[in-house]
Amino acid sequence: MTISSRGIVKIAFGTWLGLAPIAALAQEVQAGDPEAGESVFRRCAACHTFDPGQRRAGPHLADLFGRAAGSVEGFRYSDAMTESGITWNEETLRPYLENPRELVPGTRMVLRLRRPQDIEDVIAYLRQRSGE
Ligand code: HEC
Repeated sequence: MTISSRGIVKIAFGTWLGLAPIAALAQEVQAGDPEAGESVFRRCAACHTFDPGQRRAGPHLADLFGRAAGSVEGFRYSDAMTESGITWNEETLRPYLENPRELVPGTRMVLRLRRPQDIEDVIAYLRQRSGE
């Protein structure tokens, strides 16, 4: 009886030690910084511009906030994107940039941002470029 309850305490303490660094990491994510987001955007710029007149592999991202997914006239989206029913804002961009194919299964965009801070920063930059 004594032994087993000690064991439980040990496990609980071990779990706490294991989770503490993760909690610390999660807390380190700051509010998005558009300037830092501009550097993150270099990874997007091969495929995206803010110029509606310019064509790249991805659709332009001018006025992205509040825009319906798959709505840039003349850009050939995947059916998955045009049929997603998504409106772009912070809540939808976060999971999309973390893993596009999980939010929009079948999307042609595959780039994932793995650092939560990069996601916050690039969203702040996209919002700024949307004039919001
Ligand atoms: C290798 C090319 C490529 C890169 C790099 C890329 N994308 Fe994309 N992106 C695409 C393509 C292609 C689509 C259209 C996907 C579809 O139709 O399924 C897209 C779609 C999008 C959309 C939806 C736009 C709309 O009109 O609905 C957003 C938002 C977006 N990308 C943001 C980003 C951001 C932010 C980055 C950088 C972190 C990035 N993308 C990096 C190719 C790319």
